[in-house]
Amino acid sequence: MQAGRREIAVFNIEGEYFAIANSCPHKGASLCDGPIEGKMVRCPWHHWNWRLDDGKLETDPRQGLRTFEVVLDGDDVIVRA
Ligand code: FES
Repeated sequence: MQAGRREIAVFNIEGEYFAIANSCPHKGASLCDGPIEGKMVRCPWHHWNWRLDDGKLETDPRQGLRTFEVVLDGDDVIVRA
């Protein structure tokens, strides 16, 4: 989804929603195109795994990407960007 100039990837993992910056900090791949493993998304280009709950890189938690709060309102999914 687009929020102003931000591109945000929203994931629904068995009813639990997560929103992260869509652009991989490594080389800019679109993370919404990556496969999901548990509560992680694997970057489709170089296979770095990003945790959806806190945006941290699995192998080096010092690296991370922005996460956004997700609120459900009935059938609406609201991302606070
Ligand atoms: S662009 Fe995502 S790991 Fe390289």
